Amino acid sequence: MSRLHILRYPDARLHKIAAPVEEVNESIRTLVADMAETMYAAPGVGLAATQVDVHKRVIVIDASETRDKLLTLINPEILAASGVADCEEGCLSVPGIYEKIARAERITVRALGVDGRTFTVEAEGLRAVCIQHEMDHLKGRVFVEYLSRLKQTRIRAKLRKQQRQSA
Ligand code: NI
Repeated sequence: MSRLHILRYPDARLHKIAAPVEEVNESIRTLVADMAETMYAAPGVGLAATQVDVHKRVIVIDASETRDKLLTLINPEILAASGVADCEEGCLSVPGIYEKIARAERITVRALGVDGRTFTVEAEGLRAVCIQHEMDHLKGRVFVEYLSRLKQTRIRAKLRKQQRQSA
């Protein structure tokens, strides 16, 4: 396993649209293992392949306190959504920024697992929010894009400054 480099907003590659995985093979399983290692090391509660510059529909999530409930979703689709949650969200690609975003509170998702089999999962609260956040990445959408233009401009300026200082 190896840790992958996480793209930082604003980076145009974060806006690429991920393609469906055609076959869950060894290279996809290696990608999943590397993404999980990268997410746990960061540490973060979720990571989309888009964030490591791989434009395939793969996400990993672990919103548990014990950090031992890895959920891998390949080609995820939301089948049902209800309620409204507005959790404060953060993102490994947007370090140091936390903002409330309105999301569905409960979702049902269908996806393929690392074994290539289709399964459905019901999620609520933080786990549901996290899945929606990561699925947005696959569509090229970063959570700060739900905010006002003024806030987005401020966030971009702040992150560019951080990057200059660390360069
Ligand atoms: Ni994110």
